[in-house]
Amino acid sequence: MIRSRRTRRLWSKKSYYRNIWWLLAGVTVLVVLIAGYVLWLDDSEVVEQITNQVKKSDESEQSTAVQPAFDKTKYSLIESASPWVVVNKSRKLPSSYRAADLVVPKVTLRYPTGGSEMQLRTEAAQALQEMFTAAQSDGVKLMLASGFRSYNTQSAVYSRHVRDYGQTEADKVSARPGHSEHQTGWATDVAPASGKCVIADCFGEMAEGRWVAANSAKYGFIIRYPAGKKSLTGYSYEPWHLRYVGVELAAEIAMGGQTLEQFFGLPTYSSYPSDILQLQ
Ligand code: DAL
Ligand code: ZN
Repeated sequence: MIRSRRTRRLWSKKSYYRNIWWLLAGVTVLVVLIAGYVLWLDDSEVVEQITNQVKKSDESEQSTAVQPAFDKTKYSLIESASPWVVVNKSRKLPSSYRAADLVVPKVTLRYPTGGSEMQLRTEAAQALQEMFTAAQSDGVKLMLASGFRSYNTQSAVYSRHVRDYGQTEADKVSARPGHSEHQTGWATDVAPASGKCVIADCFGEMAEGRWVAANSAKYGFIIRYPAGKKSLTGYSYEPWHLRYVGVELAAEIAMGGQTLEQFFGLPTYSSYPSDILQLQ
């Protein structure tokens, strides 16, 4: 069909308006879409901000929430079999006391035939095994130098010290029978497996001694006679003498830097008092 010039003009005018209309419609849709997207972004940012604020306030509430106080009465301090029994110059174990669950820990032993002093109470033995395994994986090799000592064994150890150094010196490093933690089966002297600095001050300076100082609390042990605390503990620094008290108490004591007596608010003695408490 042949269109007249007028018809063609009318047609092109029509399609011009139609194109404008489509263009406007397209722009409107685009504007609506962009506006919607911007609003959605805003909303999600707001939601995120609110969520973060709630999270933060939750966290700060948690951090400021009052932690339950450590229960210092969980175990007895005067029963010989208790993991928290406090034995010192003013507190004496019955001469007949001997724990019922002594075992030889599966660790390197100073006396490999498992002779005298190579036993600990089962829970402490288990903890020692775990500690020595962890030390080994850090390249630190330890051995058990001394564990449980009966009243009679402690008597012999103390007498030897008195014979060799005199009573005053002996009392700085060795407990009189009944006053040694070794009789509880919860105490252990640890040493480098190499045999260097066994029960000697230099242990504290060795890699083995430093590892023990840094890690023993994780396994429930405390360094019972820390450096510079003789007036509180009654004994010179013994970096090798560990006392098993369980991981909870060991963590508290390691954190607070107190002695066992300080932690429990017990009187401290640097020498033997005249009135001695008989433990049960
Ligand atoms: N060396 C510690 C004090 C003891 O004899 O039990
Ligand atoms: Zn010891």
